[in-house]
Amino acid sequence: MYTQFYGFKEKPFKLTPDPDFFYHSPVHRQALAHLTYGLEDKQGFIVLTGEIGAGKTTVIQVLLNNLKDTTKVARINNTKVTSLQLLEMIVQDFGLKIQGSSKTELLDGLNRFLLEQHALGNYALLIVDEAQNFSTSLLEEIRLLSNLETGKEKLVQIILSGQPELGYKLRSPQLRQLAQRITISFHMTGLDRKETEGYINYRLQVAGSQNRALFTPKAIDQIAEFSKGIPRMINIICDAALLTG
Ligand SMILES: Nc1ncnc2c1ncn2[C@@H]1O[C@H](COP(=O)(O)OP(=O)(O)O)[C@@H](O)[C@H]1O
Ligand SMILES: [Mg+2]
Repeated sequence: MYTQFYGFKEKPFKLTPDPDFFYHSPVHRQALAHLTYGLEDKQGFIVLTGEIGAGKTTVIQVLLNNLKDTTKVARINNTKVTSLQLLEMIVQDFGLKIQGSSKTELLDGLNRFLLEQHALGNYALLIVDEAQNFSTSLLEEIRLLSNLETGKEKLVQIILSGQPELGYKLRSPQLRQLAQRITISFHMTGLDRKETEGYINYRLQVAGSQNRALFTPKAIDQIAEFSKGIPRMINIICDAALLTG
């Protein structure tokens, strides 16, 4: 461990989506704003795409931390499931105990829960992360959930997040109906040179670094280039650099 050597409180470039390290770069700020706005809108699907490591899960985590507890959240990212299992997971993640296990019973129970929450003035949010791995038919199942509504409002807000393949998938003819319901969509790109520098220094600072210039401008040039500004890659490179010194 090099943390002691550099005087860090913790490792600055871990690969977990830790909101404490959240750097408000323009693209991350915009992603968060799109999700927040989409939730207020209550009309349809919200889609967040970006390369592996762009920061999708981190942004979602920050969003969740900002939500009041009047929002009930279910979060799914296990993608190799049948439609019945998917429904079971959603119901479970909302904290429901539903008698019986047929699809109809689960859907009925879910619908009742959502109506109850609506009556209480609460919101329900379903987050599907890594959604690029979902089959077309599973994505269709998720679309059907968005049919649950009061006539005026959707009972559950749905965020689909995933790698760029998700975007391609959503443009396929089989998913036309789902695509029509997407009201907000945002694609996360990498950070530029200046943002990469800001990102690195921010993470160092949060980790407790006293030294402002651990990485030289030339090193940052190279990191920005190799990583294409993708935070996960920046972290991997910086971690390796700190390790070798
Ligand atoms: N805005 C950000 N501020 C700080 N760290 C970030 C930011 N965006 C991404 N990261 C870091 O990059 C890594 C990958 O982020 P993650 O959210 O898991 O990406 P994705 O879900 O898009 O694959 C994590 O270590 C995360 O902490
Ligand atoms: Mg992720």
